[in-house]
Amino acid sequence: MTRIFIVGAGTMGTQIAALCVKAGCAVVLYDSDARALARVADRFLTVASLEAALDADVVSESIIEDLAAKRRLWSALSRVVRADALLTSNTSTLLPSEIAEAVERPERFLAWHFHPPVDRNRLVDVMGHAETSPGAIDAIAELTRKLGHEPMVHAREHREYVFNAMLIAVLTAAQELALDEVASVASIDHAWTTATGMEQGPFAIMDLIGLDTMLRNADAALQRSPNDKRLRRLIAWLKPKVARGELGKKTGVGFYRYD
Ligand SMILES: NC(=O)c1ccc[n+]([C@@H]2O[C@H](COP(=O)([O-])OP(=O)(O)OC[C@H]3O[C@@H](n4cnc5c(N)ncnc54)[C@H](O)[C@@H]3O)[C@@H](O)[C@H]2O)c1
Repeated sequence: MTRIFIVGAGTMGTQIAALCVKAGCAVVLYDSDARALARVADRFLTVASLEAALDADVVSESIIEDLAAKRRLWSALSRVVRADALLTSNTSTLLPSEIAEAVERPERFLAWHFHPPVDRNRLVDVMGHAETSPGAIDAIAELTRKLGHEPMVHAREHREYVFNAMLIAVLTAAQELALDEVASVASIDHAWTTATGMEQGPFAIMDLIGLDTMLRNADAALQRSPNDKRLRRLIAWLKPKVARGELGKKTGVGFYRYD
């Protein structure tokens, strides 16, 4: 039985934990916040110390998206784990090589990136950095299949992964079309769903992702490219919506209203 140690008992960590439990893995969840652990203690085995990672075959990290925090965690965690453990991060925007600088055995470290809702979205990104061993990549791809999901193995690092890079391009184009008043939000979505046969258009998708998450990602991208005028325009359009609490489906209003 594969023993999986999950760090971060938030939105993603708990969804990944549920998927792994369903597939018959032995799962232990750790979080630095006791309240986060208490919230999931009725559903999962939880621990309050990193030392419990000693038994793990695989570590899956889903803490906040902050490079310094991830480096601090991995510096401590990678000293505790077994030499043959597979070490993975669910990072959305950081490169594995950036985090790997803090990892004791960087050849065991890679990004293992899930897409919510994790139980239904079967795509899982598997992305190493230059030093990741092919064996580690293969083992995580194999484990992904055992979970009933589909590994998307990346040939090299990319900050947005394959799927997100394509999605971001579509979402950006949709927002710019609305800002330029080429068409309304609803009719842009309608054009997309009619042409592709997909159930949701770009604005409905953004309401699911959360406009706060969209804004956070745009802010992080702007920090990397401070002269990007397109990004500044998108941030200026998202910011007042987020300030009004229009975060999307989770608050009942975003680009659309939900009952
Ligand atoms: N939310 C998404 O749609 C999504 C999708 C794919 C990947 N991700 C990535 O998954 C990771 C987690 O995102 P989330 O949405 O689950 O966040 P979240 O805020 O819901 O959960 C993060 C958890 O990490 C804990 N934490 C913070 N610092 C910690 C530390 N040093 N040690 C242990 N625990 C710590 C927090 O207490 C919290 O419970 C991020 O890297 C994010 O980019 C998120």
